[in-house]
Amino acid sequence: MSTLAPSLPSSPPGAPGALGTAAARARSAGLEERIRQDPGRFRVLTGDRPTGRLHLGHYFGTLRNRVRLQDLGAELFVIVADYQVLTDRDVADRLPEHVEELVLDHLAVGVDPERSTVFTHSAVPALNQLLLPFLSLVSVAELQRNPTVKDEIAHSRQSAVSGLMFTYPVHQAADILFCKANLVPVGQDQLPHLEITRTVARRFNDRYGSGGAVFPEPEALLSEAPLLLGTDGTKMSKSRGNAIQLAAGADETARLIRGAKTDSQRHIAYDPADRPEVASLLLLAALCQGRTPEEVAAGIGSAGSAALKRTVTESVNEYLAPIRARRAAYAEDRGYLRRILREGNERARAVADRTLGEVRAAMNADY
Ligand code: TRP
Repeated sequence: MSTLAPSLPSSPPGAPGALGTAAARARSAGLEERIRQDPGRFRVLTGDRPTGRLHLGHYFGTLRNRVRLQDLGAELFVIVADYQVLTDRDVADRLPEHVEELVLDHLAVGVDPERSTVFTHSAVPALNQLLLPFLSLVSVAELQRNPTVKDEIAHSRQSAVSGLMFTYPVHQAADILFCKANLVPVGQDQLPHLEITRTVARRFNDRYGSGGAVFPEPEALLSEAPLLLGTDGTKMSKSRGNAIQLAAGADETARLIRGAKTDSQRHIAYDPADRPEVASLLLLAALCQGRTPEEVAAGIGSAGSAALKRTVTESVNEYLAPIRARRAAYAEDRGYLRRILREGNERARAVADRTLGEVRAAMNADY
């Protein structure tokens, strides 16, 4: 996923075929309509691995969408997937710090802990126990075929591939099904995991449901997420050092954008295919300003890259100012952060206990 044009997100290597993605897109459009009509019918679960602070790519790709669904009236669960960090590395580094940063990022962008549940899966034993019956429902061949897992193995920094690498998509099914979420906003790289989740739900219901369904078959909601490039012209990513973090200061943001890759043409125009770096900067300014990239480009005209970068810096800093102010205020109060997580974990545990109870009853294992 390196030099993709911002407005034309195409499949990452090994992603589900174009057809799978096209079908998911079509379903997502229909889902949006149903969400508008009756948001209260939706229970949403999504989340991230705690491996570092979130950045503008996350914000416009998914965070903004999470808050939108919450504010429309859907019930939102955000999982901080701490166990999942161990899929491609031996040790989860600086975990408490990264977990706290994720909670902070969510509070800063508007996730409301009164209405939404933010939790870590390691703190929810009953969720993890679902993994066991779920693993019995999928074959080794199915696990080995997962294109996202294959891709992660190819990029892994480990010399040996762990058993968790192959099984984490089933663990992710437990993340989703423990709360019977029926809607999962994800990027397309997560579609294979959603397919496994739907398979697990269906097979569990078939095998143990005695006519009724214990689990819903959750739907993927693919956002129309624009793909933002990082300052080096490749996809903005936590691990590439090319990201503008939500938590970055205004001066740091200016410095990062000043150093961003562009091209030598003076006239600024929105041309994602031929000028991906300039297009991505235009898109970023446009997202912040609520305008189209073409409008932003027209405002700059022949003033060149330096003017473009000034516009982008101002737009980003202005847009992020209230988010950053909230983030800084919450960061002062570690006790509050811990309380949010404690309460989220408690809520998640209550939900997971209930679901595990149903699962054991369905399996005739409730003695
Ligand atoms: N796999 C996701 C990622 O790497 C994180 C994640 C864990 C997740 N559990 C989830 C996403 C459940 C959606 C639903 O970003």
